[in-house]
Parts: sequence; structure tokens; C-alpha cells
Amino acid sequence: MQKMAILCSGGDVSGMNAALKRFVEYTKQQQITPYFVSGGYEGLIDGKIKEADYSDVAGIITRGGTIIGSARSKRFMEPRYRAQAAANLEKHGIQALVVLGGEGSFKGMQKLSQESSLAFAGIPATIDNDIAGTEYSLGVDTALNIIKCAIDAVRDTASSFERAFVIETMGRECGYLALVSALTSGAEMCLTPEVPYNLSTYASRFLKEKQEGRSYFLAVVSEALQNTETIRHWFEETIGIEARSVVLGHTQRGGNPTVHDRLMASRFVTHAVDGLLAGKKRSVVCYNDGGFNHKSIDEIAFQPYRLNADLLRMAQEYNRA
Ligand code: F6P
Repeated sequence: MQKMAILCSGGDVSGMNAALKRFVEYTKQQQITPYFVSGGYEGLIDGKIKEADYSDVAGIITRGGTIIGSARSKRFMEPRYRAQAAANLEKHGIQALVVLGGEGSFKGMQKLSQESSLAFAGIPATIDNDIAGTEYSLGVDTALNIIKCAIDAVRDTASSFERAFVIETMGRECGYLALVSALTSGAEMCLTPEVPYNLSTYASRFLKEKQEGRSYFLAVVSEALQNTETIRHWFEETIGIEARSVVLGHTQRGGNPTVHDRLMASRFVTHAVDGLLAGKKRSVVCYNDGGFNHKSIDEIAFQPYRLNADLLRMAQEYNRA
């Protein structure tokens, strides 16, 4: 194998740039010429492919986002555009493609890998941490740290003002970000799509705690539930405490990548390139139980993600009487 390309697809995450840097440096070490595809699958369809060099990746490790851009491509779901994308890679003599992305990106990769002889390696990269088959996706740690700082700051004003704050996190249909943030920020309430909740149970507990001296509350809710304002009103009307809401939105997706994400970026890329060199043609690099393994794209794409049992149990405890 002489030429390999890399692209970023779907929502960007912090750590993508660290991955691009490692990709260029590690492929060159292996006497492989690295290529960048700009703008995700959209760029692949449009032939935005160029050879990458050390100068492209100098100084990028500290930056969130991705210097080669990302996109969500509707066109890539159509066979004719996938054929165009494959032809563009072949034109450059590129035999393998590394894809950094989430669930939607892997669906596209699975389809293209059934239709072409190109080799693919997927690297899970989404703040949602909702990819089946891997415990960790690139970018999650940075997002969690941003949420942690935001909630810690909100706690200061909540305690000074004796208010309830309802903090909405991203995560699409997955409650991982909300749950881990609630647990690690000491929130009193956590609402996620995975666990049915009962507001009367919360009300009995909170009213009792308020009588016993609790003067402010923090609630973390997943965006999927679309109930941030409803919960804010509930605090005012049922619990009898002034309440505000904070939607963290895209602040969760950018920023200086944590040490963990920089290191994971390097490790994911190393395993992706090694897998391709070892002849794996349709794999996703997964991280489980402290180590990396390659899983077939068919095991990952179109599979539902499940929170691990330990976390799920703690999520259920929020709903206790
Ligand atoms: O998948 C990453 C994510 O940030 C989700 O958490 C969120 O629902 C979505 O992307 C937002 O998408 P966009 O940036 O297109 O608004």
C-alpha cells in the first residue's frame, strides 16, 4: 500500500486535528503518502483530495474542530455519488481511506465498502458517544470537560442566588453526556432518554430536601427530551424555587482538546493505519476494556448503542423516592 487518505465526517470534535497530525506523521514513517480529503464525503464526491505534508499539521494539535473541514452529506447516501467518490480516490491511486466520524458516517462507509475494492478504517469520533461497539469515541472527554466547567460555574451562581438551574446537554438520542456530567458535577436531577423518569418522585424528594435545608438545585437534561423549559417551570411551580435554564449547545463541541483526546487521537489513528497495513479492509477501531480492537463495519453501522450497565444503574438511582 502506497497511498492513504483521511477525512472527517459529521459533527466535528476536539481531537480531530490531533488525529490528522498523527496520520500524516505515522503514514510517512511507514513510507506511505498521506492525503487529506476536505469537507467529508461531500468533498470526496467533489474530488477535494490533496497530498498532505508536515507543514499542514504543524501546530494544529492544540486546536479544536478540524483543519480539513467536515460535513453531513446527503448525496453520499445515493449510489451514483458514492461511485463518483470511489472513482476520485482511484484517480489519485489511493487504496485506503480512514474515516473519522459518527454513526451516520459509518453507515456511508459500510455502503461504499460493499461497492468498491477500497480498504476502509473507521475511527469513532462524536461527542455523543453513541456508537455501538466502542466504549469511547474521540472528542467525548473534551466535551465532558467543557460541560464540567460550565456546570461548576453555574453552581456558583445557583448557590449565591438560591436558584434551580436546568442545564441542557447535547448527545442526540444518547444520554451519555448528560449522565456522566450529572454524576461528576453533583447534580440533583438527571433526565436522559434511556431512563423513564417520574416528576412526582422527584417532587417528594426535592420538597423534603428543601425543608431540610437544600437551598439550590442543579438539573442536567439531554437535548433529546426537549423538555428543558418544562422542567424549569416545574421547578418554579412545583418546587417553589426561582429557576433558569442554560442550553450549552455547540460550546460542547469545540475548544482545546484534553490530554486524553490528544492521546486517544494518536492511538486510534495508529491502530487504524496498522489495521489497514495488516489487510483489514472494512473495520472500525473500537476501544473497550482499556484496549483497542477492530470490529467489522457491519457490527457497528446500523446497530443501536446501549449505555453500559453500570452507568444505567446510576442513571436509575436519580429517580429514587
Ligand atoms: O452529533 C453531534 C451533535 O453535536 C449532536 O450532539 C447534536 O444533536 C448535533 O450534532 C447538532 O448538529 P448541528 O451541528 O448540525 O446542529
